[in-house]
Amino acid sequence: MSFEIPDPYVWDESFRVMYDNIDAEHKAIFECIFNCAKDPANAGLLTKLYDVTDDHFKDEEGMMVKANYSDVTNHKQIHNDFLAKIKSLKAPLDDASVAWAKQWLVGHIKGIDFKYKGKL
Ligand code: FEO
Repeated sequence: MSFEIPDPYVWDESFRVMYDNIDAEHKAIFECIFNCAKDPANAGLLTKLYDVTDDHFKDEEGMMVKANYSDVTNHKQIHNDFLAKIKSLKAPLDDASVAWAKQWLVGHIKGIDFKYKGKL
């Protein structure tokens, strides 16, 4: 499934998962990717993207575990794959990596995270 990529790359209401803490964390990841796209040579911004995303995944996974959410194992694996890919990237980021990260987040929230709406 493909979803429209916001331009400028900023979180909007169409990404709302209905849990305020998660929505705030998703906003922060959007911001990190926006900043990486603006300054692709900045290694610190790439590290920040990793850290902010890692923190978010831990929170989200914790909520899924607590709620006995059925798809948690698969969802965690998807998170781990994304983090591994981010870890493998080096500044300066090329356009393809930036485009991939932008698409991944949009597709993940709307295609995967949305499945837990109302269940956590
Ligand atoms: Fe919000 Fe599954 O990451």
